[in-house]
Amino acid sequence: MASRILVPWDLPESGREVLSKSKLSITYLHGPAGELPTSEELIQAVKEADVVLPRGTQPVAREVLVANPALRGVANHGVGYDSVDVMTATELGIPVTNTPEVLTETTADLAWALLMATARKVPQTHNFTASGRFTGPVGHPFMGMDIGPGGSNRPKVLGIIGFGRIGRAVMRRSKGFRMKVIAYDPPLREMIEKTRGVQYRELHGLLKESDFVTIHCPLTKETRHLIGRSELELLKPTAILINTSRGPVVDETALVSVLKEKRIFGAGLDVYEKEPQLTPGLVELENVVLLPHIGSLTRDTRNQMAIVAAKNAVAMAKKKKPRNLVNPEVLSRREYLKKVSG
Ligand code: DGY
Repeated sequence: MASRILVPWDLPESGREVLSKSKLSITYLHGPAGELPTSEELIQAVKEADVVLPRGTQPVAREVLVANPALRGVANHGVGYDSVDVMTATELGIPVTNTPEVLTETTADLAWALLMATARKVPQTHNFTASGRFTGPVGHPFMGMDIGPGGSNRPKVLGIIGFGRIGRAVMRRSKGFRMKVIAYDPPLREMIEKTRGVQYRELHGLLKESDFVTIHCPLTKETRHLIGRSELELLKPTAILINTSRGPVVDETALVSVLKEKRIFGAGLDVYEKEPQLTPGLVELENVVLLPHIGSLTRDTRNQMAIVAAKNAVAMAKKKKPRNLVNPEVLSRREYLKKVSG
């Protein structure tokens, strides 16, 4: 029987083309408007699949992975893979892949869009203007913060948490604003120290010194609630926090309090702790800009992500080593070798 790939969401056409050319058996499972299956439906469907290609952030929990002992691949459509239980997958001999590189520049663009929108209160002033309230000169409620040196000619400090591909792409974009760049990322400390135009800082030092803090680390045991109440209290009263990585890196309840108390200037968020639910009180705040997790959401990039995820899925379905493996240690596991032999 041809290998079977389960796609439990509305994969873009570019990815569908790759899958259909593979001549493997492909099953799409989603509602007419792209609604995702329930976890029970996913568990049932995965029993009939060799490889599953979930949408980024679509949970692939232990129950899904254990439902089919023959499952031999999870091709995540997204660079972040915290939604997949990778530890269980490795234990069961299941390779997991992601879609790095193709979304780096697009996500860095969005981080900057959010930073600038938050600093200059773009959505707030748009709403004001579009609702017909612009009837004369405006002032205080819309007073923004400089991103470049501004009237005082003081270069601003950009603090980057997470110096992977996206963090570095964010740094490249800061050049035009003549910023001083500092970064925190313990595993990449040496790289930061060797890179021109950026200085390493420990987390607390970075939080105290930055005018803008932008988060680009993956969600792991170590980074969950990396930014809690005590870290937020280290920020300057004029600081802006931007998060386009994963919501749980920030303690959202603590962030809402700090914003309510106006202890910082503002926050721009594309990701949330209990996505798609928002912490009560967040939407009522005047000093936030909130986006619905659109970091990589451009036509070109989403098409490329679909192609990369589909190629990874096909490779795993054909028992080949996929390109973007996130758990390479799986390759030497007896459970994996059994699945791909013969
Ligand atoms: C990613 O690629 O990780 C994006 O956040 C979408 O899930």
